[in-house]
Amino acid sequence: FAKGPDDGHSKKIANIAHRGASGYAPENTIAAFDKAFQMKADYIEIDVQRSKDGELVVIHDTTVDRTTDGTGNVKDLSFAEMNQLDAGSWMGEQFSGEKIPTFDEVLDRYRGKIGILIELKSPELYPGIEEQVTQKLKKRNMDKPKNEKIIVQSFNFESMKKIDKMLPRVPIGVLTSNAKDTSEAALKEFSKYADYFNPSYGLVNKELVDLVHMNGMKIQSWTVRTPEAAQFLLEMKVDGIITDYPDYVKPKK
Ligand code: G3P
Ligand code: CA
Repeated sequence: FAKGPDDGHSKKIANIAHRGASGYAPENTIAAFDKAFQMKADYIEIDVQRSKDGELVVIHDTTVDRTTDGTGNVKDLSFAEMNQLDAGSWMGEQFSGEKIPTFDEVLDRYRGKIGILIELKSPELYPGIEEQVTQKLKKRNMDKPKNEKIIVQSFNFESMKKIDKMLPRVPIGVLTSNAKDTSEAALKEFSKYADYFNPSYGLVNKELVDLVHMNGMKIQSWTVRTPEAAQFLLEMKVDGIITDYPDYVKPKK
């Protein structure tokens, strides 16, 4: 039967640009986030870690090796050292000069313009990062997201339990690519603190989507890199699609 407009399941599917529009510009850079905004994505997804001297930075890997011209662990480099690095050239000379953004910079540049799906990447390496993220959101009054679309997610469930306690009004997501996390018992447990269950798309089927909804959560799935994968997730009626190519997510009218 037709679901009502406010039941959370019939709303538009969120188009979430994975590390920004990372199919078109270097992941987790302002170039990729601006591109996602231009492409009218609903959210940018960002990976947050911490420099040796405590600055929250936006980068996916726990080393800078793959996506910059430097080497070393994110946690062992000072922000000044990281800020020297070129985070764009690896994807093409037209992107040279892109920097590793700070979390502050991303919040200030995009808040109110596009949703921000904040992933705490390997928070076990950064004790206290939950408190830091909380403080940065609270300082900006972003812990009461009325019109601001903010979600905090992680593969680290303990970290998300902490965030849920510290930011009770901010939606929480759990990430997994592990089939054992899709059981009824697991979903029931996640629903105690999470609002989103966000699995890799290989785990998605209609039964899982229904089960997540029955447990009062929404489902956002990743990572779409082909039009076929986008189409599959649209047919599964997930609530959000996390994609390197925002233009692949085209719901049929
Ligand atoms: O947002 C989901 C996705 O980003 C999780 O995987 O490795 O790309 O951070 P990863
Ligand atoms: Ca991520």
